[in-house]
Amino acid sequence: MYVCLCNAISDKTIREAVRRYQPKSIQHLRKIVPVGQQCGKCIRAAREIMDEELLLLTEYQEIA
Ligand code: FES
Repeated sequence: MYVCLCNAISDKTIREAVRRYQPKSIQHLRKIVPVGQQCGKCIRAAREIMDEELLLLTEYQEIA
């Protein structure tokens, strides 16, 4: 599913970037993938996906 229509960035792309780079903020994520660099309507959704993925990462690390 596309999250950012302006730059054709999918939730999958965001999730992969979060897993690989573990960004500390939406600003950090935006340096990794060009999400929200035009109209900005996707920022909230991108942040939610980032937070969800970071939470999953934390849970996986606790199990391992
Ligand atoms: S939808 Fe992401 S910048 Fe427009």
